[in-house]
Amino acid sequence: MAVQGNPDGKLIPQFIKLIEQKTGIQVRPRDYNWLLGLLKDHAKAVQLSLPAYYNLLTGNSWQSRQAWKRLIPDITTGESFFFRDQGQFRLLEQKILPEIIADKQKERTLRIWSAGCSTGEEPYSLAILLDMLVKDLHKWNLVIIGTDLNEEAISRAKQGLYRNWSFRATPVPIREKYFRQLDNRWLLDERIRSMVQFQTSNLVEDGLPDFARNLYDMDLILCRNVFIYFDKPTVAHVAQKLTQTLRPGGYLLTGHGELFGLALDGLDYKVYDESVVYRRTQILPSAKWLKGISDSKFNSSISSSSPEVSLRSSKRPLRSQSSKPSSSDRQPFRHKRADWQATPVRAESAGVGGSQKLTETESVVELLKQAEMLANQARYDEAMRLCWQALAVEPLATLPYYLLASIAEEQGDRVGAKDFLNKVIYLAPETAVSAYLNLASLVEIEGDTRRAHTLRNTAQRILQELPSETIIEPYTDITAAQLYQMLFSDSASPEGDVVDA
Ligand SMILES: C[S@@+](CC[C@H](N)C(=O)[O-])C[C@H]1O[C@@H](n2cnc3c(N)ncnc32)[C@H](O)[C@@H]1O
Repeated sequence: MAVQGNPDGKLIPQFIKLIEQKTGIQVRPRDYNWLLGLLKDHAKAVQLSLPAYYNLLTGNSWQSRQAWKRLIPDITTGESFFFRDQGQFRLLEQKILPEIIADKQKERTLRIWSAGCSTGEEPYSLAILLDMLVKDLHKWNLVIIGTDLNEEAISRAKQGLYRNWSFRATPVPIREKYFRQLDNRWLLDERIRSMVQFQTSNLVEDGLPDFARNLYDMDLILCRNVFIYFDKPTVAHVAQKLTQTLRPGGYLLTGHGELFGLALDGLDYKVYDESVVYRRTQILPSAKWLKGISDSKFNSSISSSSPEVSLRSSKRPLRSQSSKPSSSDRQPFRHKRADWQATPVRAESAGVGGSQKLTETESVVELLKQAEMLANQARYDEAMRLCWQALAVEPLATLPYYLLASIAEEQGDRVGAKDFLNKVIYLAPETAVSAYLNLASLVEIEGDTRRAHTLRNTAQRILQELPSETIIEPYTDITAAQLYQMLFSDSASPEGDVVDA
């Protein structure tokens, strides 16, 4: 595990273990060099050698806590925005919150916790939603708590001041109604700010429920895009603590797929189009919660929308199961540079007047190359921005949507990933084989095996109908014949039920 040829690198495994124990966060092997540089900087800032800095972090003194406080912002990803994951917010608005409000109508108390709230966009979005949903909110005893490990993020959350970028999923009228512009930032209305209490809290270390900190008997807990950084035992441990912090019948929402494959004691779940929703088991279980949905339905079909990974989850694996990579080895955006050069307009065919078009095409290719590179560095927002720029130049291009779908899924946004793949299908219904296949994997995760089957049949039919040498987007080197051979060669001919994407 040590960074090759670097004596300080020998300490890396110990630091990694310490960080995991303290925060749950796993450091990927490809980030070891980066981590070593970061730790050296932090050690230097407190005028310590690396071994002495390690000892400082293992201690329990005020200085130790300060060292963690300074380190944590650098090892966590605090990416957040208002109304992140529109599908889940739609579900909250139309189903979950109305049900909770109806249940609590008599006692008029609502207890909500956004765990791992970063800079506050998530709990504030909930506060805004409640303000819109409950006419007599002032008569309710409302508790909304936002917590995070990162003290710096919590201080910023308390300020309630945001950049434009935080509103990328927020309808403009909501921003206009609840925020006031201050230079190039937006300040949240004091009334909404006062609805949310913020605290620092470590989901891995802290005991739960915690009556002293008002973390108990929650009607709703949101813990989204936090588990992605933890290993499975830590996810299971934290999920158990969150379950204990819900009231019986209380709801838990996580990022998409973050609890798949775990045995969840004390939680029922229900699958909606938008998301899986968990609910602490009622003392008298309610019949409307679906029971008996086979776990294998989920376990068997978890995939990434990365074409290579998704194809692996299709009918026939591209590689033998024994060579399955570990999650830390996963390279979701591994299209070769040339993949993006499949954009159709070429210099020779552009002709007179084509130079402008050629420039545009080249710039699209360039934008996509850069987007892919940024996605590989987990700089998803920048990568997505470049994809949108590419689409502004070539609105009918499909490759940017493939990359957007991969990014969306990598971020746990399955609804977004499906939207992007549907766009590809809309734009290229008779060639978008990879989009049909990836979409099939995604709907299968949601238990819609019938639709997954139809989508795969459509992909199979198209592969049969395309000239065998056709290169299948977004690959550069896989032909229709090869893909057919890999996926369907041992199956009967397709049943011909064409999907309405
Ligand atoms: C990507 S943000 C998610 C923010 C928000 N929930 C959302 O989905 O937009 C992940 C947050 O989890 C926090 N986090 C990571 N490990 C944590 C832990 N052990 N306890 C509490 N928060 C943690 C990070 O500090 C970061 O702010």
